[in-house]
Amino acid sequence: MDYNFNLYSKYYDLLYGNKDYNEEANYVSDCIQKYSAEAKTILEFGSGTGMHGLILQKLGYDIYGLERSEQMVMEAQLRGLKCEQADIIDFEMDRKFDVVISLFHVISYIIENASLEMVFRNASKNLNSGGLFIFDVWYSPAVYHLKPETRIKKVENKDISVVRIAEPEMHTNKNVVDVNYTILVSEKNSDKWNEFQEKHPMRHFSIPEIELLAKLTGFEMLKAEEFLTGLEPSENTWGVNFILKKIG
Ligand SMILES: C[S@@+](CC[C@H](N)C(=O)[O-])C[C@H]1O[C@@H](n2cnc3c(N)ncnc32)[C@H](O)[C@@H]1O
Repeated sequence: MDYNFNLYSKYYDLLYGNKDYNEEANYVSDCIQKYSAEAKTILEFGSGTGMHGLILQKLGYDIYGLERSEQMVMEAQLRGLKCEQADIIDFEMDRKFDVVISLFHVISYIIENASLEMVFRNASKNLNSGGLFIFDVWYSPAVYHLKPETRIKKVENKDISVVRIAEPEMHTNKNVVDVNYTILVSEKNSDKWNEFQEKHPMRHFSIPEIELLAKLTGFEMLKAEEFLTGLEPSENTWGVNFILKKIG
């Protein structure tokens, strides 16, 4: 199937080369230690190219990733992350973990209510009693206040130059923003550019919305805070981190 991230994944690490995965993985580990100090095993939803997972592995966690993009799974496996290609909406796994994590807005890629319910139920099904579900999403008050803008990003390595144009289209009544990416890639020493497009529909959430979803699927909400800083979410907080606990 032609999912988003299939082409995009080829340039993913280059585009996010300045993202501080080390700081983020340590923040997630701190969240785990704060709410479940004994936790050792982690299931990662949307593990991408394995950047957070490998750091958490080094920190001593036993981590397993699920990721829909075949290219990203291959990249993560080459780097040493145990993971497999799977859709977090619909997969079977006969193993339980202490924590489920889903980082860098993976849950915002799940835009339909029915699919969200399935993802939350899958997290619950694969958690031990009292296990944590930790994920960050786009936060509705900030999306309406700050408003997504067209952005242009240019990156390069020794072989290629990449220009990414991100054009947002808001669907206010669905809590969804389509991010329409145009990616231009040129090999160094060539003046030819290859162009491709990918649409990434992103859902944003309010705290009561996640609270309701959590309750429906057997979780209680322990915390909603700004990702990395731990501050109270505000209309300027684009990414909010949720920490849920499986009841029973
Ligand atoms: C912004 S990336 C984040 C990847 C990784 N967590 C990181 O921080 O680099 C979003 C990821 O979610 C994955 N994804 C989106 N929907 C998914 C689904 N239904 N099942 C599994 N993975 C999914 C995409 O393939 C992509 O790798």
